[in-house]
Amino acid sequence: MALHETQQDMWKRLVGEAAADLVEDGMLIGLGSGSTARAFIQALGQRIQAGLNIAGAVASSQASRDLAASFGILCADLDTYPDLDLYIDGADEIDPRLQLIKGAGGALLHEKVVATVSRKFIVIGDITKQVTQLGHRSPVPVETIPFALTPVRRRLEALGASVQLRQKNGVPFVTESHNFILDCTFPAGISDAPRLDAQLHSIVGVVETGLFLNMAQQAMIAGPEGLHTFHV
Ligand code: 5RP
Repeated sequence: MALHETQQDMWKRLVGEAAADLVEDGMLIGLGSGSTARAFIQALGQRIQAGLNIAGAVASSQASRDLAASFGILCADLDTYPDLDLYIDGADEIDPRLQLIKGAGGALLHEKVVATVSRKFIVIGDITKQVTQLGHRSPVPVETIPFALTPVRRRLEALGASVQLRQKNGVPFVTESHNFILDCTFPAGISDAPRLDAQLHSIVGVVETGLFLNMAQQAMIAGPEGLHTFHV
C-alpha cells in the first residue's frame, strides 16, 4: 500500500489488481490511460515480474507506454499487433448499460481505437464513476481538428451543449493526434446517448467523441462493499 493512500486510491488499486489477475499467459493486452488504468498497469507489471508471460501490449497514451516500460512491459503499436485479446481501461462515467464517458485525460481517440481492436474490453473504476444517466457529472469530450474549432463549437452549442475549450497551462490542450478537445456539458444530462453521439459525429471537423457506447462488455467496480462485476 502507498503512503497516504486515500480510500479512492485504495479502490483503484483493488480494481487494478483484480483486472491484472484476469490476464493470462500469451495474451495481447491493450493498456488504458488515467489513474485507474495506471493501477492496472502497475499490478500487471508486478505479475509479469512474478512470471506472467504476455505476448505483447499496446498502450493508448504515451504516459501509459512510459509507465508500462518502467515495469518492463515494452509496448508495440497497432501495426505490430492490430488485434488484441483484452483491453483494460478506466472511465469518467459508467452507466448501468455499460455506456461510458471517457477522455478526461485527453486520450479518448487512441483509447477508442484500442478498444475497437480488442476482443474484450473490461472497464474498471471505483464507485464514484457509477451513474444512472450519463452526462450529469462529466462533460463529453469532443476531439476536433484545430482548423474547424469555431464552426464545430458553434454546432455543438446549437445542440444545447455548454462548450469549453480544454486548456493546459494556460494554452489549449493538444492531443497526441494534434487535435483540440471541446468539453461539452449537457445541463439536463444525456437521455439518448446513441442519438447524441450520431449528432456529434455528423459535425465535419469532429474526429471522435468521449461517448463509448456498446464497447465495454464487462465492468469491475470497487467500493466500500468490495469488488463487484457486471456485464451487459
Ligand atoms: C483518459 C480516460 C480515463 O480512463 C478516464 O478519464 C478515467 O481516469 P481516472 O482513472 O484517472 O479517473 O478516459 O482519457
